[in-house]
Amino acid sequence: MLSGGNTLKLGLFGANCSSGRNVTKVPERWSGTWPDNLKLARMADDAGIDFMLPIGRWKGYGGETDYQGATLETITWACGLLQATKRLTVFGTVHAPLFHPIIAAKQMVTADHIGEGRFGLNVVVGWNEDEFEMFGVRQREHAVRYEYAQEWLDVIKLIWSVDRDIFDFDGEFIKLKSVRGHPKPYGGTQPVIMNAGASATGRVFAVQNCDAFFMQASRVSVEETAQRVAEVKAAAAGHGRDISVFTVGVITCRATRKEAEAYHHYTVVEQADWSAVDSMLAKRKVLASDMSAEEFQRQRMHFAHGNSGLPIIGDPDHVANELIALSRAGLTGIAVSLVNFADELPYLRAEVLPRLERAGLRVPLTAA
Ligand SMILES: Cc1cc2nc3c(=O)[nH]c(=O)nc-3n(C[C@H](O)[C@H](O)[C@H](O)COP(=O)(O)O)c2cc1C
Repeated sequence: MLSGGNTLKLGLFGANCSSGRNVTKVPERWSGTWPDNLKLARMADDAGIDFMLPIGRWKGYGGETDYQGATLETITWACGLLQATKRLTVFGTVHAPLFHPIIAAKQMVTADHIGEGRFGLNVVVGWNEDEFEMFGVRQREHAVRYEYAQEWLDVIKLIWSVDRDIFDFDGEFIKLKSVRGHPKPYGGTQPVIMNAGASATGRVFAVQNCDAFFMQASRVSVEETAQRVAEVKAAAAGHGRDISVFTVGVITCRATRKEAEAYHHYTVVEQADWSAVDSMLAKRKVLASDMSAEEFQRQRMHFAHGNSGLPIIGDPDHVANELIALSRAGLTGIAVSLVNFADELPYLRAEVLPRLERAGLRVPLTAA
Protein backbone atom coordinates (compact mmCIF):
# COMPACT_ATOMS: atom_id res chain seq x y z
CA MET A 1 0.00 0.00 0.00
CA LEU A 2 1.01 3.51 -0.57
CA SER A 3 4.02 1.84 -2.06
CA GLY A 4 6.95 3.79 -3.39
CA GLY A 5 9.90 5.19 -1.63
CA ASN A 6 8.47 8.33 -0.08
CA THR A 7 9.40 8.54 3.59
CA LEU A 8 6.75 11.23 4.01
CA LYS A 9 3.57 10.30 2.15
CA LEU A 10 1.30 13.08 0.98
CA GLY A 11 -2.40 12.72 0.37
CA LEU A 12 -5.37 14.89 -0.49
CA PHE A 13 -8.30 14.78 1.90
CA GLY A 14 -11.94 15.51 1.21
CA ALA A 15 -11.99 16.26 -2.52
CA ASN A 16 -15.16 14.19 -3.03
CA CYS A 17 -17.17 16.81 -1.12
CA SER A 18 -18.35 20.24 -2.16
CA SER A 19 -16.29 22.83 -0.25
CA GLY A 20 -13.61 20.20 0.46
CA ARG A 21 -12.75 20.88 4.08
CA ASN A 22 -12.44 24.65 4.46
CA VAL A 23 -15.75 26.07 5.60
CA THR A 24 -15.68 29.11 3.35
CA LYS A 25 -17.95 31.10 1.08
CA VAL A 26 -15.20 32.24 -1.33
CA PRO A 27 -16.32 31.66 -4.93
CA GLU A 28 -13.22 29.61 -5.76
CA ARG A 29 -14.04 27.07 -3.02
CA TRP A 30 -13.81 23.44 -4.14
CA SER A 31 -16.76 22.24 -6.23
CA GLY A 32 -16.42 18.52 -5.49
CA THR A 33 -17.82 17.72 -8.97
CA TRP A 34 -16.73 14.65 -10.88
CA PRO A 35 -14.88 16.57 -13.64
CA ASP A 36 -12.90 18.49 -11.00
CA ASN A 37 -12.12 15.30 -9.07
CA LEU A 38 -10.94 13.58 -12.23
CA LYS A 39 -8.75 16.52 -13.18
CA LEU A 40 -7.33 16.65 -9.66
CA ALA A 41 -6.60 12.93 -9.47
CA ARG A 42 -4.71 12.98 -12.77
CA MET A 43 -2.77 16.02 -11.64
CA ALA A 44 -2.00 14.39 -8.26
CA ASP A 45 -0.91 11.16 -9.94
CA ASP A 46 1.45 13.09 -12.20
CA ALA A 47 2.84 15.01 -9.22
CA GLY A 48 3.59 11.80 -7.29
CA ILE A 49 1.00 12.47 -4.57
CA ASP A 50 0.63 9.19 -2.69
CA PHE A 51 -3.09 8.94 -1.92
CA MET A 52 -6.53 10.49 -2.00
CA LEU A 53 -8.78 10.09 1.04
CA PRO A 54 -12.48 10.86 0.67
CA ILE A 55 -15.03 11.74 3.32
CA GLY A 56 -17.98 9.41 3.82
CA ARG A 57 -20.69 12.00 4.25
CA TRP A 58 -24.33 11.60 3.29
CA LYS A 59 -25.74 15.08 3.66
CA GLY A 60 -24.54 18.64 4.10
CA TYR A 61 -24.03 20.67 7.22
CA GLY A 62 -26.23 23.53 6.03
CA GLY A 63 -25.15 27.14 6.34
CA GLU A 64 -25.03 29.53 3.40
CA THR A 65 -22.94 27.11 1.34
CA ASP A 66 -24.55 23.89 2.56
CA TYR A 67 -21.03 22.83 3.50
CA GLN A 68 -20.27 19.34 2.09
CA GLY A 69 -23.81 19.24 0.78
CA ALA A 70 -22.86 17.54 -2.50
CA THR A 71 -20.70 14.46 -2.00
CA LEU A 72 -19.64 11.68 -4.32
CA GLU A 73 -20.04 8.19 -2.83
CA THR A 74 -16.57 7.07 -1.99
CA ILE A 75 -16.17 3.51 -3.33
CA THR A 76 -17.69 4.37 -6.70
CA TRP A 77 -15.62 7.60 -6.73
CA ALA A 78 -12.51 5.51 -6.05
CA CYS A 79 -13.34 3.14 -8.93
CA GLY A 80 -13.42 6.03 -11.39
CA LEU A 81 -10.23 7.60 -10.11
CA LEU A 82 -8.34 4.31 -9.97
CA GLN A 83 -9.20 3.66 -13.60
CA ALA A 84 -7.88 7.12 -14.53
CA THR A 85 -4.59 6.95 -12.61
CA LYS A 86 -1.46 4.79 -12.39
CA ARG A 87 0.23 5.29 -9.02
CA LEU A 88 -2.17 6.83 -6.48
CA THR A 89 -3.72 4.83 -3.68
CA VAL A 90 -7.39 5.80 -3.52
CA PHE A 91 -9.34 5.13 -0.36
CA GLY A 92 -13.01 4.45 0.10
CA THR A 93 -14.44 5.67 3.39
CA VAL A 94 -16.98 3.10 4.44
CA HIS A 95 -19.50 3.29 7.28
CA ALA A 96 -19.49 -0.20 8.77
CA PRO A 97 -23.05 0.09 10.18
CA LEU A 98 -24.52 1.20 6.84
CA PHE A 99 -22.96 -1.25 4.37
CA HIS A 100 -23.66 -4.96 4.46
CA PRO A 101 -20.18 -6.52 4.79
CA ILE A 102 -20.64 -8.97 1.92
CA ILE A 103 -21.65 -6.19 -0.46
CA ALA A 104 -18.92 -3.88 0.83
CA ALA A 105 -16.24 -6.59 0.51
CA LYS A 106 -17.17 -7.17 -3.11
CA GLN A 107 -17.42 -3.49 -3.99
CA MET A 108 -13.96 -2.94 -2.55
CA VAL A 109 -12.49 -5.96 -4.33
CA THR A 110 -13.91 -4.58 -7.56
CA ALA A 111 -12.24 -1.22 -6.90
CA ASP A 112 -9.01 -3.01 -6.01
CA HIS A 113 -9.02 -4.90 -9.31
CA ILE A 114 -9.69 -1.70 -11.24
CA GLY A 115 -6.74 -0.08 -9.47
CA GLU A 116 -4.53 -3.20 -9.62
CA GLY A 117 -4.06 -3.20 -5.86
CA ARG A 118 -4.27 0.54 -5.19
CA PHE A 119 -7.58 0.65 -3.29
CA GLY A 120 -7.55 1.39 0.45
CA LEU A 121 -10.29 1.18 3.08
CA ASN A 122 -10.99 3.88 5.67
CA VAL A 123 -13.37 2.15 8.05
CA VAL A 124 -15.63 4.51 10.00
CA VAL A 125 -18.34 3.79 12.53
CA GLY A 126 -20.32 7.01 12.15
CA TRP A 127 -20.01 10.42 13.64
CA ASN A 128 -23.12 12.39 12.80
CA GLU A 129 -26.32 11.16 14.41
CA ASP A 130 -28.56 12.88 11.88
CA GLU A 131 -27.04 10.87 9.04
CA PHE A 132 -28.11 7.71 10.77
CA GLU A 133 -31.63 9.08 11.27
CA MET A 134 -31.76 9.69 7.54
CA PHE A 135 -31.05 5.99 6.97
CA GLY A 136 -33.55 4.94 9.62
CA VAL A 137 -30.64 3.24 11.40
CA ARG A 138 -30.24 3.66 15.13
CA GLN A 139 -26.70 4.66 16.06
CA ARG A 140 -25.29 2.30 18.67
CA GLU A 141 -23.76 3.41 21.94
CA HIS A 142 -20.16 4.53 21.33
CA ALA A 143 -18.18 1.48 22.48
CA VAL A 144 -20.65 -0.89 20.81
CA ARG A 145 -20.09 0.86 17.46
CA TYR A 146 -16.55 -0.45 17.53
CA GLU A 147 -17.65 -3.93 18.68
CA TYR A 148 -19.88 -4.05 15.63
CA ALA A 149 -17.09 -2.70 13.43
CA GLN A 150 -14.81 -5.47 14.72
CA GLU A 151 -17.19 -8.16 13.50
CA TRP A 152 -17.77 -6.29 10.25
CA LEU A 153 -14.06 -6.04 9.55
CA ASP A 154 -13.47 -9.67 10.54
CA VAL A 155 -16.04 -10.70 7.94
CA ILE A 156 -14.48 -8.47 5.28
CA LYS A 157 -11.00 -9.88 5.94
CA LEU A 158 -12.30 -13.47 5.83
CA ILE A 159 -14.02 -12.83 2.50
CA TRP A 160 -10.81 -11.32 1.17
CA SER A 161 -8.63 -14.11 2.50
CA VAL A 162 -7.11 -16.37 -0.13
CA ASP A 163 -7.21 -19.22 2.37
CA ARG A 164 -11.00 -19.10 2.78
CA ASP A 165 -13.50 -20.46 0.38
CA ILE A 166 -16.73 -21.05 2.25
CA PHE A 167 -17.31 -20.02 5.86
CA ASP A 168 -20.06 -19.37 8.39
CA PHE A 169 -19.86 -16.38 10.70
CA ASP A 170 -21.58 -16.43 14.05
CA GLY A 171 -20.96 -13.10 15.77
CA GLU A 172 -23.00 -11.24 18.30
CA PHE A 173 -24.27 -8.82 15.65
CA ILE A 174 -23.52 -10.50 12.35
CA LYS A 175 -24.60 -14.03 11.49
CA LEU A 176 -23.86 -15.37 8.04
CA LYS A 177 -24.12 -18.77 6.36
CA SER A 178 -21.91 -20.32 3.69
CA VAL A 179 -20.25 -17.08 2.72
CA ARG A 180 -18.22 -17.08 -0.48
CA GLY A 181 -16.52 -14.20 -2.20
CA HIS A 182 -14.53 -14.31 -5.42
CA PRO A 183 -12.42 -12.87 -6.82
CA LYS A 184 -10.05 -12.15 -3.96
CA PRO A 185 -8.32 -8.76 -3.87
CA TYR A 186 -5.81 -8.02 -6.61
CA GLY A 187 -2.39 -9.65 -6.58
CA GLY A 188 -2.77 -11.85 -3.50
CA THR A 189 -2.60 -8.99 -0.99
CA GLN A 190 -5.41 -7.22 0.90
CA PRO A 191 -6.22 -3.51 0.56
CA VAL A 192 -4.58 -1.26 3.10
CA ILE A 193 -6.95 -0.49 5.99
CA MET A 194 -7.00 2.74 8.00
CA ASN A 195 -9.07 4.21 10.80
CA ALA A 196 -9.17 7.61 12.46
CA GLY A 197 -10.88 6.98 15.78
CA ALA A 198 -10.13 9.78 18.22
CA SER A 199 -11.45 8.05 21.35
CA ALA A 200 -9.54 5.48 23.38
CA THR A 201 -11.89 2.81 22.01
CA GLY A 202 -11.32 3.98 18.45
CA ARG A 203 -7.59 3.91 18.91
CA VAL A 204 -7.62 0.37 20.33
CA PHE A 205 -9.68 -0.71 17.32
CA ALA A 206 -7.15 0.88 14.98
CA VAL A 207 -4.03 -0.55 16.56
CA GLN A 208 -5.56 -4.04 16.63
CA ASN A 209 -6.95 -4.06 13.09
CA CYS A 210 -5.50 -1.43 10.83
CA ASP A 211 -2.34 -0.74 8.84
CA ALA A 212 -2.62 3.01 9.29
CA PHE A 213 -3.99 5.28 11.99
CA PHE A 214 -4.90 8.92 11.45
CA MET A 215 -4.62 11.14 14.50
CA GLN A 216 -4.72 14.83 15.28
CA ALA A 217 -1.28 16.42 15.38
CA SER A 218 -0.67 18.72 18.32
CA ARG A 219 -1.23 22.41 17.71
CA VAL A 220 1.03 23.13 20.64
CA SER A 221 4.32 21.54 19.69
CA VAL A 222 5.91 18.99 17.43
CA GLU A 223 7.29 17.28 20.54
CA GLU A 224 3.73 16.65 21.66
CA THR A 225 2.93 15.18 18.25
CA ALA A 226 6.01 12.93 18.51
CA GLN A 227 4.79 11.79 21.91
CA ARG A 228 1.34 10.93 20.50
CA VAL A 229 2.87 9.00 17.60
CA ALA A 230 5.12 7.07 19.98
CA GLU A 231 2.12 6.17 22.15
CA VAL A 232 0.18 4.78 19.19
CA LYS A 233 3.17 2.80 17.97
CA ALA A 234 3.78 1.42 21.48
CA ALA A 235 0.12 0.43 21.76
CA ALA A 236 0.35 -1.39 18.43
CA ALA A 237 3.59 -3.08 19.47
CA GLY A 238 1.73 -4.28 22.58
CA HIS A 239 -0.47 -6.26 20.20
CA GLY A 240 2.54 -7.47 18.21
CA ARG A 241 1.66 -5.10 15.38
CA ASP A 242 3.32 -2.30 13.50
CA ILE A 243 1.16 0.64 12.46
CA SER A 244 1.83 3.70 10.33
CA VAL A 245 0.64 6.97 11.82
CA PHE A 246 -0.71 9.80 9.70
CA THR A 247 -2.30 13.15 10.37
CA VAL A 248 -4.47 15.68 8.57
CA GLY A 249 -3.66 19.28 7.73
CA VAL A 250 -4.91 22.30 5.86
CA ILE A 251 -2.27 24.03 3.76
CA THR A 252 -2.23 27.63 2.54
CA CYS A 253 1.00 28.15 0.63
CA ARG A 254 1.87 31.38 -1.14
CA ALA A 255 5.09 33.08 -2.28
CA THR A 256 5.35 35.03 0.98
CA ARG A 257 4.13 34.34 4.47
CA LYS A 258 2.22 37.62 4.41
CA GLU A 259 0.27 36.60 1.30
CA ALA A 260 -0.48 33.16 2.73
CA GLU A 261 -1.73 34.63 6.00
CA ALA A 262 -3.85 37.19 4.16
CA TYR A 263 -5.47 34.53 1.98
CA HIS A 264 -6.06 32.29 4.96
CA HIS A 265 -7.70 35.15 6.84
CA TYR A 266 -9.82 36.05 3.84
CA THR A 267 -11.07 32.50 3.27
CA VAL A 268 -11.74 31.20 6.75
CA VAL A 269 -12.24 34.31 8.85
CA GLU A 270 -13.71 37.11 6.70
CA GLN A 271 -15.44 34.73 4.30
CA ALA A 272 -16.00 31.77 6.61
CA ASP A 273 -19.45 30.21 6.42
CA TRP A 274 -20.05 30.75 10.13
CA SER A 275 -23.59 29.37 10.04
CA ALA A 276 -22.21 26.07 8.71
CA VAL A 277 -19.46 26.14 11.37
CA ASP A 278 -22.06 26.59 14.10
CA SER A 279 -24.15 23.75 12.71
CA MET A 280 -21.09 21.44 12.75
CA LEU A 281 -20.22 22.43 16.28
CA ALA A 282 -23.78 21.76 17.43
CA LYS A 283 -23.70 18.30 15.81
CA ARG A 284 -20.44 17.54 17.61
CA LYS A 285 -22.01 18.85 20.82
CA VAL A 286 -19.39 21.55 21.17
CA LEU A 287 -21.60 24.08 22.94
CA ALA A 288 -20.94 27.68 23.99
CA SER A 289 -22.65 26.91 27.30
CA ASP A 290 -19.99 24.28 28.16
CA MET A 291 -16.89 26.49 27.84
CA SER A 292 -15.50 29.97 28.07
CA ALA A 293 -16.31 32.41 25.28
CA GLU A 294 -12.63 32.41 24.34
CA GLU A 295 -12.46 28.62 24.05
CA PHE A 296 -15.69 28.51 22.02
CA GLN A 297 -14.29 31.07 19.59
CA ARG A 298 -11.09 29.00 19.30
CA GLN A 299 -13.17 25.92 18.43
CA ARG A 300 -15.10 27.91 15.81
CA MET A 301 -11.81 28.95 14.19
CA HIS A 302 -10.52 25.36 14.19
CA PHE A 303 -13.62 24.09 12.49
CA ALA A 304 -13.76 26.93 9.97
CA HIS A 305 -10.36 26.18 8.55
CA GLY A 306 -10.94 22.56 7.87
CA ASN A 307 -12.81 20.73 10.53
CA SER A 308 -9.81 20.58 12.86
CA GLY A 309 -6.88 19.77 10.57
CA LEU A 310 -3.46 21.16 11.46
CA PRO A 311 -3.11 24.62 9.84
CA ILE A 312 0.09 25.01 7.81
CA ILE A 313 0.23 28.57 6.48
CA GLY A 314 3.22 30.24 4.89
CA ASP A 315 5.74 30.41 2.09
CA PRO A 316 7.18 27.22 0.53
CA ASP A 317 10.13 27.12 2.96
CA HIS A 318 7.82 27.35 5.93
CA VAL A 319 5.36 24.76 4.60
CA ALA A 320 8.18 22.35 3.72
CA ASN A 321 9.81 22.83 7.12
CA GLU A 322 6.55 22.12 8.93
CA LEU A 323 6.11 18.92 6.93
CA ILE A 324 9.71 17.90 7.59
CA ALA A 325 9.13 18.43 11.33
CA LEU A 326 6.03 16.21 11.22
CA SER A 327 8.04 13.50 9.51
CA ARG A 328 10.76 13.76 12.15
CA ALA A 329 8.02 13.41 14.78
CA GLY A 330 7.47 9.91 13.42
CA LEU A 331 4.50 10.49 11.13
CA THR A 332 4.41 8.41 7.96
CA GLY A 333 2.29 10.93 6.15
CA ILE A 334 -0.26 13.69 6.07
CA ALA A 335 -3.55 14.13 4.23
CA VAL A 336 -3.97 17.76 3.33
CA SER A 337 -6.79 19.96 2.12
CA LEU A 338 -6.61 23.11 0.01
CA VAL A 339 -9.31 25.72 -0.61
CA ASN A 340 -9.28 24.79 -4.30
CA PHE A 341 -7.27 21.60 -4.69
CA ALA A 342 -6.74 21.81 -8.44
CA ASP A 343 -5.78 25.50 -8.47
CA GLU A 344 -3.31 25.17 -5.60
CA LEU A 345 -1.69 21.78 -6.18
CA PRO A 346 0.57 22.95 -9.04
CA TYR A 347 2.25 25.48 -6.73
CA LEU A 348 2.85 22.84 -4.05
CA ARG A 349 4.27 20.57 -6.71
CA ALA A 350 6.57 23.24 -8.04
CA GLU A 351 7.76 24.68 -4.74
CA VAL A 352 7.15 22.38 -1.77
CA LEU A 353 7.71 18.91 -3.21
CA PRO A 354 11.25 19.68 -4.42
CA ARG A 355 12.13 20.95 -0.94
CA LEU A 356 10.92 17.67 0.54
CA GLU A 357 12.94 15.80 -2.06
CA ARG A 358 16.06 17.75 -1.14
CA ALA A 359 15.39 16.89 2.51
CA GLY A 360 15.43 13.23 1.51
CA LEU A 361 11.79 12.66 2.43
CA ARG A 362 10.45 12.17 -1.05
CA VAL A 363 11.81 10.51 -4.14
CA PRO A 364 11.98 12.71 -7.25
CA LEU A 365 9.49 11.43 -9.78
CA THR A 366 12.05 10.70 -12.46
CA ALA A 367 13.86 8.33 -10.08
CA ALA A 368 10.65 6.66 -8.82
C1 LIG B 1 -8.72 11.71 8.73
C2 LIG B 1 -10.10 11.45 9.24
C3 LIG B 1 -11.07 11.02 8.36
C4 LIG B 1 -12.35 10.75 8.82
N1 LIG B 1 -13.31 10.44 7.92
C5 LIG B 1 -14.59 10.26 8.34
C6 LIG B 1 -15.62 10.10 7.42
O1 LIG B 1 -15.40 10.24 6.24
N2 LIG B 1 -16.87 9.86 7.86
C7 LIG B 1 -17.16 9.78 9.19
O2 LIG B 1 -18.32 9.54 9.54
N3 LIG B 1 -16.18 9.96 10.11
C8 LIG B 1 -14.93 10.23 9.71
N4 LIG B 1 -13.94 10.47 10.62
C9 LIG B 1 -14.26 10.35 12.04
C10 LIG B 1 -13.52 9.18 12.67
O3 LIG B 1 -13.71 7.98 11.98
C11 LIG B 1 -13.96 9.03 14.14
O4 LIG B 1 -15.32 8.60 14.24
C12 LIG B 1 -13.80 10.33 14.88
O5 LIG B 1 -12.43 10.72 14.85
C13 LIG B 1 -14.24 10.21 16.34
O6 LIG B 1 -13.52 9.20 16.97
P1 LIG B 1 -14.25 8.02 17.76
O7 LIG B 1 -15.11 7.29 16.75
O8 LIG B 1 -13.14 7.16 18.28
O9 LIG B 1 -15.08 8.65 18.83
C14 LIG B 1 -12.67 10.84 10.19
C15 LIG B 1 -11.70 11.33 11.06
C16 LIG B 1 -10.43 11.67 10.60
C17 LIG B 1 -9.42 12.22 11.56
